[in-house]
Amino acid sequence: METAQFETDLSLFKYDNLEQLPPAYRDLDEDERTERIEAALAELGDDVVILGHNYQRREIVEHADFVGDSYQLSKEAANADADYVIFGGVTFMAESADIITDDDQSVILPSMEASCPMAGMAEALQVDAAWAEITAETDDDIIPITYMNSYADLKAFCAEQGGLVCTSSNAHKAFEYAFEKGDKVLFLPDKHLGENTAHRLDMAEEIVEWDPWDPEGKDASAAAANDIILWDGYCQVHERFRASHIEDLREERPDANVVVHPECRREVVEAADVVGSTSTICETVEDADPGDTWAIGTEIHLAKHLDRWHPEVEVLPLCGDACMDCNAMRQIDPNYLTWVLEELLEGRERNVIEVAPEEKELAQVALDRMLEI
Ligand code: 13P
Ligand code: SF4
Repeated sequence: METAQFETDLSLFKYDNLEQLPPAYRDLDEDERTERIEAALAELGDDVVILGHNYQRREIVEHADFVGDSYQLSKEAANADADYVIFGGVTFMAESADIITDDDQSVILPSMEASCPMAGMAEALQVDAAWAEITAETDDDIIPITYMNSYADLKAFCAEQGGLVCTSSNAHKAFEYAFEKGDKVLFLPDKHLGENTAHRLDMAEEIVEWDPWDPEGKDASAAAANDIILWDGYCQVHERFRASHIEDLREERPDANVVVHPECRREVVEAADVVGSTSTICETVEDADPGDTWAIGTEIHLAKHLDRWHPEVEVLPLCGDACMDCNAMRQIDPNYLTWVLEELLEGRERNVIEVAPEEKELAQVALDRMLEI
């Protein structure tokens, strides 16, 4: 019975009421569009700040006041004074910005379709059910940690159960916080980040997986008998990378170095030279000596930005043409940016992300715990 309810309640696009791009904005010439964006930004002045994730396309990144990883963007949102925070990113990032900013600030996500599939892989309803099953099997204290790539209701759930949020740059600190407070961790939704973090803390032996879609993959007593329970979610952009890509590269280009994101599979992280968040990937290339070669194991737009930003370094996408762009991030189209800015000039706010008040307060607790670790 419960499964049927999940099927109707689960949805990829959480904010399906957001507005579509009007036809007049669908086919703008790039030069004209750039001029219109710049003119709107000049007129709006300090009323607007644009935050751009490292995976955004060039035409968004070049208009952003700040470009960075998820953790840096949440810090920038917390410090923003502008009335309007325009988020070049995906839904869960804009939700977090709405939670962190003041009530009189609006967070605008230009396109409604920028939804991270991984965030949709652990819905609060499913997690509630799993929590009931696992906690019934043990008296140990389980601390839930959700990756930033999750929706506000799951962040609220984690806060309620004494847990917190983390990003790829502080997952190890979140685990340490959790093991100081409790006995076990339930990590959601990215199993690869969870596994890579467990290895970093020498706790790989403690891992058990929980697959909410497979009746065979949900053994509550096995979960309760281990210290790190990993929800079976993943990012398809990062699962694309294989250890063989690194082996092939090392054979063809023994001079090349490899940096990958911790959402990659364990064997890929093990074979790489450096692993870290998108800002660590940027810093690695920034700090490289001229003439060095770095292969980038993450979303393709970031590899292209790094190639443009650092002509003195040879930047290669780790799996060549097979490297993926993030379909969710790509939805933030510069035509949408033009539209939401020009609508603000007319006094109209489009595609505002507003987290439900009952989720907001608790989700903020989970985010604040992260910002404090
Ligand atoms: P970062 O926190 O490293 O920017 O990563 C966010 C993300 O969605 C990676 O897929
Ligand atoms: Fe989500 Fe993967 Fe895109 Fe990151 S790269 S936003 S995890 S789909």
